[in-house]
Amino acid sequence: VCGAFASRDVRVVAADMDEEGLGRIADDLRGKGSDLVTTTLDVTRRDDVEELVGREAERAGGLDIVVNLAGVLRNQVVVKIDDDAFGTVMNTHLIGTLNTMRAALPGMRELGYGRIVNMSSLAVRGTVAGGAYAAAKGAIEGLTRAAAIESAKYGVTVNCVAPGLVDAGMFRTVPAEYQKESEAQIPAGRAGTSSEVAECVAFLAGEGASYVTGQTLTICGGLSLGL
Ligand SMILES: NC(=O)c1ccc[n+]([C@@H]2O[C@H](COP(=O)([O-])OP(=O)(O)OC[C@H]3O[C@@H](n4cnc5c(N)ncnc54)[C@H](O)[C@@H]3O)[C@@H](O)[C@H]2O)c1
Repeated sequence: VCGAFASRDVRVVAADMDEEGLGRIADDLRGKGSDLVTTTLDVTRRDDVEELVGREAERAGGLDIVVNLAGVLRNQVVVKIDDDAFGTVMNTHLIGTLNTMRAALPGMRELGYGRIVNMSSLAVRGTVAGGAYAAAKGAIEGLTRAAAIESAKYGVTVNCVAPGLVDAGMFRTVPAEYQKESEAQIPAGRAGTSSEVAECVAFLAGEGASYVTGQTLTICGGLSLGL
C-alpha cells in the first residue's frame, strides 16, 4: 500500500509496531522518489495515535488520507475463545481503526476533504475458528458506514476493502495444507497479491472516488461468488 501511494507521489507516513518491517518498507521505497516517513506506533494506544496524527498533519499542512491495515490473527473456535485473545483481536482491528479515525476526522472535516480506507476481510462472513476476527471485521464495516454518513457533507469518504485470500502476511502464517485447499476454491485459481489490494485502496483513497462512501469493496478473485 505504501508503494502504491509512493508511485502516486503521495507523502506517506507508515506506522506499525514492527520496526523491522518498517525498515523493509523504507528499503523498498528508497530511491523511488517518494517522501516516506516511518514510525513505530501501537494503534491501540489512543494518545500515541492522536500525537502522531497531530504532529504529521501539522508538518504536512494537513492529513487527507488514512488507511487502516493493522491486524492480528488468533484462531480459536467460539467455545474456546479466551478473553485475552479476543481482546487483542478487537483492540488491534477495531479500536485501532477507531483511534485513527477519531484522530483524523476533525482535521479532514476542517479541510473539507478526506479519504479513509479501512481493512475488512471476506472472512467477515464467518470461517471456522475465525470468530474473533470476523467480529472485529464486521464491527469495522459498521463503524465505517456510520462515519461515512457523518462525514459525507464535509467531502470526506470512508470505505472498506475486503480481500479474500492474499499471498501476504497473515495468510502465509496458516498451515500450508489449508493455504493449498483454500486457493483451490478461488475461481481465479490463485491467491491475490498485495499490490492488487493496494490498487483498490489507492482507488478508494483517490480524488476519483469522491462519490463512493460507506461501501465495502470485495477483492477476492471470485471467491465470494457461487452457491
Ligand atoms: N493476508 C490476507 O489474506 C488478508 C485477507 C483479508 C484481510 N487482511 C487484512 O489485511 C491487513 C494486513 O494483513 P497482512 O495479511 O498483510 O498481515 P501482516 O501481519 O503482514 O500485517 C499486519 C500488520 O499489523 C501490524 N500490527 C499488529 N498489531 C499492531 C498494533 N497494535 N499497532 C500497530 N501495528 C500493528 C503488524 O506489525 C503487521 O505489520 C490486516 O488488517 C488483515 O486483517 C489480510
